[in-house]
Amino acid sequence: MHVIEAKGAHIPLVGLGTWELRGRVCARVVEQALRLGYRHVDTAEMYDNEREVGEALRASGVKRDDVFLTTKIWPSHFAPHELERAAKGSLARLRLSEIDLLLLHWPNPQIPLAETLGALCKVKQSGLARHIGVSNFTVALIEQAVRLASEPLVCNQIEMHPFLDQSKVTAACRAHGMAVIAYSPIARGGAQRDAVLARIGAAHRKSATQISLRWLVQQGIVVIPRTGRIEHLSENCAIFDFELSDAEMAEIHSLAHRDGRLVDYAYSGSPKWD
Ligand SMILES: NC(=O)c1ccc[n+]([C@@H]2O[C@H](COP(=O)([O-])OP(=O)(O)OC[C@H]3O[C@@H](n4cnc5c(N)ncnc54)[C@H](OP(=O)(O)O)[C@@H]3O)[C@@H](O)[C@H]2O)c1
Repeated sequence: MHVIEAKGAHIPLVGLGTWELRGRVCARVVEQALRLGYRHVDTAEMYDNEREVGEALRASGVKRDDVFLTTKIWPSHFAPHELERAAKGSLARLRLSEIDLLLLHWPNPQIPLAETLGALCKVKQSGLARHIGVSNFTVALIEQAVRLASEPLVCNQIEMHPFLDQSKVTAACRAHGMAVIAYSPIARGGAQRDAVLARIGAAHRKSATQISLRWLVQQGIVVIPRTGRIEHLSENCAIFDFELSDAEMAEIHSLAHRDGRLVDYAYSGSPKWD
């Protein structure tokens, strides 16, 4: 298993994303992924599938301590007392005593970051989360967060794939020793339709999807592709038996464009959304 280390957290480079996986499909795919060797699963209170993720973990027979599980707190729960309650709620649904990584899902400008981070650090100190981090934080917010947090922030989970330039936020994370976790790492399925990724893939006998994932892990970035199909599970983790050349890496970098962002959202107290 390929793992990166960030501030004491050992994070498997490939994890399974679970946004939009629900009910029996979710439980089946997560269980199968664990049986296939996945050791990292990404969920969130917002995904409405924590119960199924916990059930799949127990059904898989894989030891709890061998799996790196992430969940996220929705911004409407960022007031300190709400945050602690939300973390306990996630653990109750997962039927676990501790989560490996607990993230702030999106920034919430309505609640002072210092208060939210204070509560997040307290959750870690009380033993409910082994590690904590953020998601969808900009360079400016990363700088603030690192200054305010009394516990290490181990990662920033952000949208990242070949069609979006995230070099500034990635550099900020690296400067603070934080891991970058790429969500939508295959552009929500769009990587498979890209001609350049397909051509590079053909040269390595790999799919365009695998090239997108390899391009990220080769930069030391964690990927959490989601699939509801068993056949895609093995494909998405078979990315460690080949290497992209410098020229191929550069060509993939050049695919980024201004409209590349797929998940654009600003929390304003609006209804549920990822
Ligand atoms: N922190 C945040 O705010 C945030 C935001 C978005 C996502 N996330 C996390 O990141 C995870 C991944 O992102 P995502 O779900 O947006 O998108 P993604 O993983 O980039 O793409 C998922 C799509 O790709 C398809 N796919 C998967 N493997 C494939 C393969 N080998 N060949 C062709 N198509 C394939 C899937 O369809 P099939 O089911 O048919 O395979 C699905 O439609 C999420 O599930 C979630 O855990 C976090």
